[in-house]
Amino acid sequence: MATEMNRRNWIRSSALITAGLYMAGLPQLAKATAPSRLLMPPRADMHKILADLPRMQARLTSNENPFGPSDKAKKALVGAVDESCRYPRERIMALRAAIAKEEGVSEENVLLGAGSSDLLLASALRYSANGGTILSADPTYASLIRSAMEVGAKWEKVPLTKDFAHDLTAMEKKVNDEISLVYVVNPNNPTGTITPADKLRAFCEAVAKRKPIFIDEAYIDYMENPKSQSMVDLVRKGQNVIIARTFSKVHGFAGLRVGYAIAQPEVIKELSKYTNGGFNLSATSASAALASLQDKEFTKYCVQKNKEAKDFTYSVLKKEGYTYLPSHTNFIMFPLKMDGKKFTEEMLKRGVGLRSWEFYDQQWCRVSMGTMEDMKLFADAFKQIS
Ligand SMILES: Cc1ncc(COP(=O)(O)O)c(C=O)c1O
Repeated sequence: MATEMNRRNWIRSSALITAGLYMAGLPQLAKATAPSRLLMPPRADMHKILADLPRMQARLTSNENPFGPSDKAKKALVGAVDESCRYPRERIMALRAAIAKEEGVSEENVLLGAGSSDLLLASALRYSANGGTILSADPTYASLIRSAMEVGAKWEKVPLTKDFAHDLTAMEKKVNDEISLVYVVNPNNPTGTITPADKLRAFCEAVAKRKPIFIDEAYIDYMENPKSQSMVDLVRKGQNVIIARTFSKVHGFAGLRVGYAIAQPEVIKELSKYTNGGFNLSATSASAALASLQDKEFTKYCVQKNKEAKDFTYSVLKKEGYTYLPSHTNFIMFPLKMDGKKFTEEMLKRGVGLRSWEFYDQQWCRVSMGTMEDMKLFADAFKQIS
C-alpha cells in the first residue's frame, strides 16, 4: 500500500539501515519536540487488547513467552494444589531463600511480588508519598511512572541517545532535590535496546549516593551473559539501588505472576509495607517458580527459541525493506511506513495481534516473539500490507 506511506518517514527510515547508523537523527528530533513533563506516558489499552484477543491467532502484543511454564514448574504447581487451603508462607520463604542464594545476596535483600508489577507499584507509591518526581528515559515502560503520577508525582523525562540507550549524562544533570526516584529499564521496553552495563554502573555509583535508582531488569535474561549485565552487584556493595526481576518472560510465568526486587534491607522493609509484606503470591505460583529457577535447561531453551524467532523476523523485515532496532529482548521495534493504528488493525484482520507506538515523530510497531508458527503468520500478514 504504497499510497499510504508517509514519504517523509519512509525516506528517514530507509536511511537507517544497519546497526549504529540507522537511527541517526531521530533523538535530536525528539529533543526538539519533547512535550511537557507532566503528560502521562501512554498505558497499554488492556480493554482493547482483551476485546481483540478472540481475533488473534498469533498473540504478539505483550512480550509473553509461549514456551512456558516448564514441565518441572507445572509439576511443582500441581504438587502444591493440595495445600492450597493454607496460607503459602513456607512456600514463599523457600522461594525467597532460593532467589537470595541465586543472586548472592541475603534474604533480607529480597522482596517477592505477584509479578514485578506489584513491586513497581509499591515503589511508585513509596517514592511518591510526598509528591516528588520520577526521572526516567522516554520512551520507556510506563507502569511505575503512571502509578506515581496517579498519586501526585511528576515525571521528568529524558530522550534516549541516538543509539537508543539511556542518556545517562543528561539524566545525571537532571538529578536535583525534587527527584524522588530514578527509573531505568535495561534492556528498555518498548525499544528493546540496551544501555551499556559499565556506563550504567558508573552512573549508579555516582547518583545512588543522592537518590534511589530503580533498575528494571525484566528482559535481562535475553542478554548475553545476564549476570555480568545486571546491577545486582551494586546491592551487594551496599548502594541504594532497587533491582526488579520477573518470571513472566524467560520463565513463561506471565499468568502465574511472580516477580522480585533486590535492594538494601531497609528499602525492602519500606517497600514491603505497600505489597502485603511480600506475601502476595499463591502457594502454586511460589512452588512453580522455585522449580523453574532451578530448571536452567528450560530457560536456555527459551532463549534459543527466542533467538530463532528474532532472526526469522529480522530477515522478513529486511526482505520487505524495513529497518528495526536490534533487540536484546523478546520483542522487536521497527519504524512503520503507515499509520500505526491502521497497521495494527490490518494485521489483526489477518489474525496477528501486535502494538504500535508513536515517538520521535515516527510511527513504530512492537512485535513480541512467539512460536515459529506465530512468526510465520506475522510474516504472511506483513508481506500483504507492507
Ligand atoms: C520493563 C517491564 N517491567 C515490568 C513488567 C511487568 O511484568 P510482570 O508484572 O509480569 O512481572 C513488564 C511487562 O511487560 C515490563 O516490560
